Amino acid sequence: MKKLNYFYTDIDSFFISKKNTEKKRILKIYSLLRVDNTFMTTAYNRMFDVNQILKKYIKKFFTKKIVVCDFGISSGQSTLELYDDLIKLKIKKIYGFDKQIYLKIYRIKNLIFLFNSSNELLMVEYKKHCLRYRYFLMFKKIEKFLVNLFNLFNIKSIKSELLMPNLNRLDNCKFYEQDIFNIKKKYYNFFDVIRISNLLNYSYFSEEKLKKAILNIKKISKENCIISINRTPINKKKNSASFFIKKNGKFELLEDLNGGSELKKLMLMV
Ligand SMILES: C[S@@+](CC[C@H](N)C(=O)[O-])C[C@H]1O[C@@H](n2cnc3c(N)ncnc32)[C@H](O)[C@@H]1O
Repeated sequence: MKKLNYFYTDIDSFFISKKNTEKKRILKIYSLLRVDNTFMTTAYNRMFDVNQILKKYIKKFFTKKIVVCDFGISSGQSTLELYDDLIKLKIKKIYGFDKQIYLKIYRIKNLIFLFNSSNELLMVEYKKHCLRYRYFLMFKKIEKFLVNLFNLFNIKSIKSELLMPNLNRLDNCKFYEQDIFNIKKKYYNFFDVIRISNLLNYSYFSEEKLKKAILNIKKISKENCIISINRTPINKKKNSASFFIKKNGKFELLEDLNGGSELKKLMLMV
Protein backbone atom coordinates (compact mmCIF):
# COMPACT_ATOMS: atom_id res chain seq x y z
CA MET A 1 0.00 0.00 0.00
CA LYS A 2 1.27 3.45 -0.94
CA LYS A 3 2.41 5.47 2.09
CA LEU A 4 1.21 9.06 2.04
CA ASN A 5 3.31 11.78 3.54
CA TYR A 6 0.45 13.28 5.51
CA PHE A 7 -0.85 13.17 9.03
CA TYR A 8 -2.85 10.05 8.45
CA THR A 9 0.31 8.00 8.04
CA ASP A 10 0.79 8.61 11.75
CA ILE A 11 -2.69 7.79 12.86
CA ASP A 12 -3.78 5.41 10.16
CA SER A 13 -2.81 2.24 11.89
CA PHE A 14 -5.99 2.04 13.89
CA PHE A 15 -7.94 1.92 10.67
CA ILE A 16 -5.83 -0.70 9.03
CA SER A 17 -7.78 -3.77 8.39
CA LYS A 18 -6.88 -5.94 5.47
CA LYS A 19 -10.28 -5.19 3.93
CA ASN A 20 -10.01 -1.42 4.19
CA THR A 21 -8.72 0.41 1.17
CA GLU A 22 -6.67 3.58 1.40
CA LYS A 23 -9.73 5.52 0.24
CA LYS A 24 -11.97 4.09 2.96
CA ARG A 25 -9.45 4.77 5.71
CA ILE A 26 -8.94 8.36 4.65
CA LEU A 27 -12.65 9.05 4.42
CA LYS A 28 -13.11 7.53 7.87
CA ILE A 29 -10.52 9.86 9.36
CA TYR A 30 -12.11 12.93 7.79
CA SER A 31 -15.48 11.87 9.12
CA LEU A 32 -14.06 11.89 12.66
CA LEU A 33 -12.70 15.42 12.53
CA ARG A 34 -14.98 18.29 13.47
CA VAL A 35 -14.73 22.00 12.64
CA ASP A 36 -17.24 24.37 14.23
CA ASN A 37 -20.31 22.15 14.24
CA THR A 38 -19.54 20.57 10.90
CA PHE A 39 -17.82 17.30 10.19
CA MET A 40 -15.01 17.21 7.69
CA THR A 41 -16.74 14.36 5.92
CA THR A 42 -16.38 14.35 2.20
CA ALA A 43 -16.77 11.74 -0.51
CA TYR A 44 -15.70 11.03 -4.04
CA ASN A 45 -17.82 12.30 -6.94
CA ARG A 46 -20.53 13.77 -4.76
CA MET A 47 -20.95 17.06 -6.67
CA PHE A 48 -21.09 16.02 -10.29
CA ASP A 49 -24.68 17.27 -10.80
CA VAL A 50 -23.89 20.65 -9.18
CA ASN A 51 -20.71 21.08 -11.23
CA GLN A 52 -22.56 20.43 -14.50
CA ILE A 53 -24.99 23.28 -13.79
CA LEU A 54 -22.15 25.59 -12.74
CA LYS A 55 -20.44 24.74 -16.00
CA LYS A 56 -23.57 25.66 -17.94
CA TYR A 57 -23.76 29.11 -16.31
CA ILE A 58 -20.04 29.78 -16.64
CA LYS A 59 -20.32 29.10 -20.38
CA LYS A 60 -23.40 31.30 -20.60
CA PHE A 61 -22.22 34.32 -18.62
CA PHE A 62 -18.44 34.55 -18.95
CA THR A 63 -16.20 35.15 -21.91
CA LYS A 64 -13.10 36.19 -19.96
CA LYS A 65 -11.02 34.02 -17.61
CA ILE A 66 -12.64 33.70 -14.20
CA VAL A 67 -11.66 33.24 -10.55
CA VAL A 68 -13.49 30.48 -8.67
CA CYS A 69 -13.87 29.86 -4.94
CA ASP A 70 -14.74 26.54 -3.31
CA PHE A 71 -15.62 27.14 0.37
CA GLY A 72 -15.36 24.35 2.95
CA ILE A 73 -13.12 21.92 1.11
CA SER A 74 -12.28 19.22 3.66
CA SER A 75 -9.59 17.12 1.97
CA GLY A 76 -9.81 19.13 -1.26
CA GLN A 77 -11.03 16.05 -3.12
CA SER A 78 -14.20 17.75 -4.34
CA THR A 79 -12.19 20.86 -5.33
CA LEU A 80 -10.00 18.63 -7.44
CA GLU A 81 -13.12 17.23 -9.09
CA LEU A 82 -14.41 20.77 -9.67
CA TYR A 83 -11.07 21.55 -11.31
CA ASP A 84 -11.46 18.50 -13.55
CA ASP A 85 -15.06 19.35 -14.42
CA LEU A 86 -14.17 22.95 -15.35
CA ILE A 87 -10.84 22.21 -16.99
CA LYS A 88 -11.98 23.01 -20.52
CA LEU A 89 -13.43 26.38 -19.51
CA LYS A 90 -11.57 29.66 -19.10
CA ILE A 91 -10.45 29.41 -15.49
CA LYS A 92 -7.81 31.77 -14.15
CA LYS A 93 -7.61 30.31 -10.66
CA ILE A 94 -9.53 28.11 -8.22
CA TYR A 95 -9.22 28.99 -4.54
CA GLY A 96 -10.05 26.29 -1.99
CA PHE A 97 -10.91 27.79 1.41
CA ASP A 98 -11.43 25.98 4.69
CA LYS A 99 -11.26 27.02 8.32
CA GLN A 100 -8.90 24.18 8.90
CA ILE A 101 -6.14 23.00 6.61
CA TYR A 102 -2.97 22.86 8.71
CA LEU A 103 -2.29 20.53 11.60
CA LYS A 104 0.17 20.04 14.41
CA ILE A 105 0.88 16.58 15.74
CA TYR A 106 2.45 16.05 19.16
CA ARG A 107 3.66 12.58 20.00
CA ILE A 108 4.47 11.43 23.51
CA LYS A 109 5.30 7.76 23.41
CA ASN A 110 1.99 6.04 22.71
CA LEU A 111 -0.09 9.19 22.88
CA ILE A 112 -0.66 11.29 19.79
CA PHE A 113 -2.39 14.67 19.92
CA LEU A 114 -3.74 16.30 16.79
CA PHE A 115 -4.21 20.11 16.94
CA ASN A 116 -5.27 22.63 14.31
CA SER A 117 -3.29 25.82 13.67
CA SER A 118 -5.41 27.71 16.24
CA ASN A 119 -4.31 25.20 18.92
CA GLU A 120 -7.69 23.50 19.11
CA LEU A 121 -7.47 19.81 19.90
CA LEU A 122 -9.01 17.65 17.17
CA MET A 123 -8.18 14.09 18.05
CA VAL A 124 -6.21 11.96 20.49
CA GLU A 125 -4.83 8.54 19.74
CA TYR A 126 -3.54 6.13 22.34
CA LYS A 127 -1.66 2.97 21.33
CA LYS A 128 -2.89 3.40 17.78
CA HIS A 129 -6.53 3.72 18.78
CA CYS A 130 -8.54 6.90 18.50
CA LEU A 131 -9.82 7.83 21.97
CA ARG A 132 -13.52 7.51 22.54
CA TYR A 133 -15.32 10.82 22.47
CA ARG A 134 -15.95 11.00 26.22
CA TYR A 135 -12.24 10.50 26.96
CA PHE A 136 -11.29 12.87 24.19
CA LEU A 137 -13.48 15.55 25.82
CA MET A 138 -11.41 15.33 28.99
CA PHE A 139 -8.33 16.34 27.00
CA LYS A 140 -10.33 18.88 25.03
CA LYS A 141 -11.16 20.75 28.24
CA ILE A 142 -7.46 21.28 28.91
CA GLU A 143 -6.30 21.85 25.33
CA LYS A 144 -4.68 25.25 26.03
CA PHE A 145 -2.92 23.85 29.09
CA LEU A 146 -1.62 20.92 27.00
CA VAL A 147 -0.07 23.24 24.42
CA ASN A 148 1.60 25.27 27.19
CA LEU A 149 2.88 22.06 28.72
CA PHE A 150 4.36 20.88 25.42
CA ASN A 151 6.07 24.25 25.03
CA LEU A 152 7.36 24.14 28.57
CA PHE A 153 8.93 20.71 28.05
CA ASN A 154 10.10 21.67 24.59
CA ILE A 155 8.05 18.95 22.92
CA LYS A 156 8.02 19.88 19.26
CA SER A 157 5.07 19.33 16.97
CA ILE A 158 5.20 17.84 13.51
CA LYS A 159 3.48 20.09 10.98
CA SER A 160 1.09 18.49 8.58
CA GLU A 161 -1.98 19.28 6.55
CA LEU A 162 -5.38 17.89 5.78
CA LEU A 163 -5.23 18.30 2.02
CA MET A 164 -5.04 15.26 -0.18
CA PRO A 165 -1.50 14.75 -1.46
CA ASN A 166 -0.35 16.56 -4.57
CA LEU A 167 -3.14 19.14 -4.69
CA ASN A 168 -0.72 22.00 -4.31
CA ARG A 169 0.99 20.88 -7.47
CA LEU A 170 -1.93 22.14 -9.52
CA ASP A 171 -0.72 25.51 -10.72
CA ASN A 172 -4.04 27.24 -10.85
CA CYS A 173 -5.50 25.81 -7.62
CA LYS A 174 -4.59 27.49 -4.34
CA PHE A 175 -5.63 26.40 -0.85
CA TYR A 176 -5.89 28.71 2.16
CA GLU A 177 -7.31 28.72 5.64
CA GLN A 178 -10.28 31.12 5.69
CA ASP A 179 -13.19 31.27 8.10
CA ILE A 180 -16.50 31.89 6.31
CA PHE A 181 -17.54 34.08 9.26
CA ASN A 182 -14.44 36.24 9.05
CA ILE A 183 -13.03 36.40 5.53
CA LYS A 184 -9.93 38.50 4.82
CA LYS A 185 -10.66 41.86 3.16
CA LYS A 186 -8.26 41.15 0.32
CA TYR A 187 -10.85 38.69 -1.06
CA TYR A 188 -13.66 41.29 -1.17
CA ASN A 189 -15.11 41.70 -4.65
CA PHE A 190 -12.76 38.96 -5.86
CA PHE A 191 -14.66 35.93 -7.17
CA ASP A 192 -16.67 35.26 -10.34
CA VAL A 193 -17.96 31.88 -9.17
CA ILE A 194 -18.42 30.57 -5.61
CA ARG A 195 -19.41 27.04 -4.63
CA ILE A 196 -20.41 26.29 -1.04
CA SER A 197 -21.03 22.65 -0.53
CA ASN A 198 -22.20 20.93 2.66
CA LEU A 199 -21.11 23.81 4.86
CA LEU A 200 -23.98 26.29 5.28
CA ASN A 201 -26.72 24.08 6.72
CA TYR A 202 -29.31 24.82 9.39
CA SER A 203 -28.22 21.69 11.22
CA TYR A 204 -24.74 23.20 11.67
CA PHE A 205 -25.36 26.90 12.30
CA SER A 206 -28.01 29.27 13.70
CA GLU A 207 -29.89 31.52 11.29
CA GLU A 208 -27.95 34.48 12.62
CA LYS A 209 -24.64 32.82 11.77
CA LEU A 210 -25.90 31.70 8.36
CA LYS A 211 -26.90 35.32 7.61
CA LYS A 212 -23.42 36.47 8.57
CA ALA A 213 -21.87 33.87 6.25
CA ILE A 214 -24.16 34.92 3.38
CA LEU A 215 -23.25 38.59 3.90
CA ASN A 216 -19.61 37.57 3.70
CA ILE A 217 -20.26 35.63 0.50
CA LYS A 218 -21.84 38.80 -0.86
CA LYS A 219 -18.70 40.75 0.04
CA ILE A 220 -16.29 38.38 -1.73
CA SER A 221 -18.44 38.01 -4.85
CA LYS A 222 -18.16 40.33 -7.83
CA GLU A 223 -21.19 41.75 -9.61
CA ASN A 224 -22.58 38.96 -11.90
CA CYS A 225 -20.94 36.30 -9.72
CA ILE A 226 -22.55 32.83 -9.88
CA ILE A 227 -23.05 31.19 -6.49
CA SER A 228 -24.10 27.62 -5.78
CA ILE A 229 -25.12 26.33 -2.37
CA ASN A 230 -25.82 22.65 -1.93
CA ARG A 231 -26.29 19.87 0.53
CA THR A 232 -25.66 16.21 -0.28
CA PRO A 233 -28.18 13.82 1.30
CA ILE A 234 -26.99 10.87 3.34
CA ASN A 235 -27.65 8.43 0.50
CA LYS A 236 -25.23 10.64 -1.54
CA LYS A 237 -27.47 10.39 -4.59
CA LYS A 238 -28.87 13.79 -5.51
CA ASN A 239 -27.76 17.18 -4.24
CA SER A 240 -30.31 19.77 -3.18
CA ALA A 241 -28.88 22.96 -4.57
CA SER A 242 -29.74 26.52 -5.57
CA PHE A 243 -27.85 28.65 -8.06
CA PHE A 244 -27.77 32.44 -7.83
CA ILE A 245 -26.38 35.40 -9.71
CA LYS A 246 -25.40 38.66 -8.02
CA LYS A 247 -27.14 41.58 -9.69
CA ASN A 248 -27.03 45.14 -8.32
CA GLY A 249 -25.59 43.81 -5.07
CA LYS A 250 -28.44 41.30 -4.53
CA PHE A 251 -28.65 37.57 -5.11
CA GLU A 252 -31.18 36.48 -7.74
CA LEU A 253 -32.22 32.85 -8.18
CA LEU A 254 -31.12 31.19 -11.41
CA GLU A 255 -32.18 27.62 -10.80
CA ASP A 256 -33.04 25.00 -8.18
CA LEU A 257 -31.84 21.43 -8.29
CA ASN A 258 -33.89 18.74 -6.50
CA GLY A 259 -36.05 21.22 -4.61
CA GLY A 260 -33.32 23.78 -4.01
CA SER A 261 -31.14 24.71 -1.06
CA GLU A 262 -32.56 25.17 2.42
CA LEU A 263 -30.78 28.55 2.39
CA LYS A 264 -32.64 29.87 -0.64
CA LYS A 265 -34.99 32.16 1.31
CA LEU A 266 -32.14 33.59 3.33
CA MET A 267 -29.99 34.14 0.24
CA LEU A 268 -32.78 36.09 -1.46
CA MET A 269 -33.56 38.07 1.68
CA VAL A 270 -30.08 39.22 2.72
C1 LIG B 1 -18.95 18.46 5.44
S1 LIG B 1 -17.44 19.20 4.94
C2 LIG B 1 -17.78 19.54 3.23
C3 LIG B 1 -16.62 19.19 2.33
C4 LIG B 1 -16.88 19.33 0.83
N1 LIG B 1 -17.27 20.69 0.48
C5 LIG B 1 -17.94 18.36 0.41
O1 LIG B 1 -19.10 18.78 0.20
O2 LIG B 1 -17.64 17.17 0.31
C6 LIG B 1 -17.56 20.81 5.69
C7 LIG B 1 -16.27 21.59 5.59
O3 LIG B 1 -16.49 22.92 6.05
C8 LIG B 1 -15.38 23.33 6.81
N2 LIG B 1 -15.77 24.41 7.73
C9 LIG B 1 -16.45 24.31 8.89
N3 LIG B 1 -16.62 25.51 9.46
C10 LIG B 1 -16.03 26.40 8.62
C11 LIG B 1 -15.88 27.81 8.66
N4 LIG B 1 -16.35 28.53 9.67
N5 LIG B 1 -15.23 28.40 7.63
C12 LIG B 1 -14.73 27.67 6.61
N6 LIG B 1 -14.84 26.34 6.52
C13 LIG B 1 -15.49 25.70 7.51
C14 LIG B 1 -14.93 22.06 7.51
O4 LIG B 1 -13.57 22.15 7.91
C15 LIG B 1 -15.16 21.01 6.45
O5 LIG B 1 -14.01 20.82 5.66
